[in-house]
Amino acid sequence: MLGGHILHGGDYNPDQWLDCPEILEEDIRLMKEANVNCMSLGIFSWARLEPEEGKYDFDWLEQIIDRLGREGIQVVLATPSGAMPHWLTQKYPETMQVQADGKRNLSGKRHNFCYTSPVMREKIYRIDSALSERFGKKDNVILWHLSNELGGNFADSSCHCELCQEAFRNWLKEKYGTLDNFNHAYWNSFWSHTYSDWSQIHSPAPHGETTTTALTVDWKRFVTHQMSDFTRCEIEAVHEHSDLPVTTNFMYFFRGLDYGKMREGLDIISWDNYPFWHKTKDEVQAAVRAAANHNIMRSLKKQPFLLMESTPSAVSWRGFNPVKRPGMHMLSSMQAIAHGSDSVQYFQWRKGRGAFEQFHGAVVGHKNGSNTRTFRQVAELGERLEAVSGLIDGTVNRPKAAMIFDWENWWTLEDVSGPRQDISYIDCILDHYQAFWEAGIDMDFVTMDDSLEGYSLVAAPLNYMYKQGYAEKVREFVEKGGTYVTTYFSGIADETDLCFTGHHPLADVLGIEQEEIDAPSDEFTNSFCYGGKEYAAGNLRELIHAGEETEVLSVYSEDYVKGEPVVTAHSFGKGKAWYLAAAAGEDFLRVFYADRLKEAGIGNTLGTELPYGVTVTERIGNDGKRIVFVMNFRNEPVTIRGIGSWTDAESGKKYEGELQLDAFECIMLQ
Ligand code: GAL
Repeated sequence: MLGGHILHGGDYNPDQWLDCPEILEEDIRLMKEANVNCMSLGIFSWARLEPEEGKYDFDWLEQIIDRLGREGIQVVLATPSGAMPHWLTQKYPETMQVQADGKRNLSGKRHNFCYTSPVMREKIYRIDSALSERFGKKDNVILWHLSNELGGNFADSSCHCELCQEAFRNWLKEKYGTLDNFNHAYWNSFWSHTYSDWSQIHSPAPHGETTTTALTVDWKRFVTHQMSDFTRCEIEAVHEHSDLPVTTNFMYFFRGLDYGKMREGLDIISWDNYPFWHKTKDEVQAAVRAAANHNIMRSLKKQPFLLMESTPSAVSWRGFNPVKRPGMHMLSSMQAIAHGSDSVQYFQWRKGRGAFEQFHGAVVGHKNGSNTRTFRQVAELGERLEAVSGLIDGTVNRPKAAMIFDWENWWTLEDVSGPRQDISYIDCILDHYQAFWEAGIDMDFVTMDDSLEGYSLVAAPLNYMYKQGYAEKVREFVEKGGTYVTTYFSGIADETDLCFTGHHPLADVLGIEQEEIDAPSDEFTNSFCYGGKEYAAGNLRELIHAGEETEVLSVYSEDYVKGEPVVTAHSFGKGKAWYLAAAAGEDFLRVFYADRLKEAGIGNTLGTELPYGVTVTERIGNDGKRIVFVMNFRNEPVTIRGIGSWTDAESGKKYEGELQLDAFECIMLQ
């Protein structure tokens, strides 16, 4: 466990308060009172660390690191590439991004750098390595925090400058070798798109090419590649004088970078979590989204991750920004731990007086010091985290179920001009995941590149694109006894969006052939019967044909497809593959997956049905130690029955057969 305990603290921006020494002293006192043990420093401090080109001023930072060290507070030290100083962008405008329409950004905002620019790379290398030399061996500095939320706050923000265009063409040359291969992979004979020279290729742009999915997806792959390369440059720099681990803080369902690729080179995965709590009185949707995101982060390395940011109360960037109601701060923080985090860090420690984030939640507000509800909740959580650190140390979640979640599939699926233009991969992933969450079944999220070993059940909803080797992997998984569930609009195209011809790549495993997919309007309803109950067929419906040995469990009930298969199962080797030909709601998915889980021998740890709004996860140690987290996301007490005998891991209280949870409560059992 990094730092020897669950990290609790957050982004600290003392550079905004350097002219108020009394505030800095008060901060230290309040940090002790808030039971925090780790601060992230220097995230947006470039202008303060290098006020003039080549002139570093690190003394103020050293004083703060040392001051924190004397209080036993550890430091996550950032590299400052997240925001660039004006002297840099004024003198070297090529360090700023060019938008897709060819317009170069102006100075200001953040996440504005061109990751190809040699000047940017040189300047960041120098300051990173100087930071590493000065601070990389300090006792209380424990981790490098590279940049901040790479890729910007907005999906698909990428640089389209001439340097990036050239790098993109070279990347394509490397990938495809010849123009013939390239033209074939892109199906460029369509609309006379055949390229006769590499120099004709340009990134997707609103006034240019946007209609070739292979191009838009390759561009995103290239952006990930280039950003990884930039990150490698930062890693090399901080490792010049230090061997501390590195991380970079990822984001909530971020589409702009393939985290499956970005994970390489990082020692620890960390991410920033801002669920929309209290958007409605029913918190389940927000809880499911946050849980899925935690699981994605954990699954990237199958190790504990760090929650690098969360708000202690409200954010300030949504249309409306509710504060956390009593109990939610504890619950949402414990949710992160329950799903595999070894930290609860905040944005931010102290509210700034001005500028864009002046109203964003912070541990310390503009008024009242520690005498606030937020502060007391933070202090209470800190006390609890310190107390349970020993229990959590060395444990991680090891689920038996996994879902395929792949960025390249996401990009391709949502970019193609297919049956509907409003297909949402994330919504579908979350619909399927919710059935597991409600059943109290933890699950990993793996990309098509990851191994399926160790799982008994793998779900692959809307798995439109198949990467090379993926079908073989699934075939082997099912053959050896795995349960595989996939849906309509899966196995359609390869990595450059060329449709498979002939059969579905897994036709032998699934025992079906796809014929056509309908995207009807709401007036053309249909339904199917499963387990004796009728369920609505959603707005994507395939017409498929089942093979002779395929079981058909449900058929369309109406219309011209009446009697055609909707739910099928096919035994293959020692396992079974399931196909859902139509989209369906939570009412069906809940029942469908309950059956699959039972067949696969996967049950929740408490061995009982959970009330709505309650879920369970489990962290397991190498020594077999198991810690069970039971979480109630309802703002009212609930009772769970039929649980057997358990002991509260914190209080030692015994539970026999029944367990009561307060509103928004999380308890840990052994
Ligand atoms: C994050 C960012 C922080 C802060 C926070 C506000 O995306 O990393 O610097 O802006 O949002 O919610």
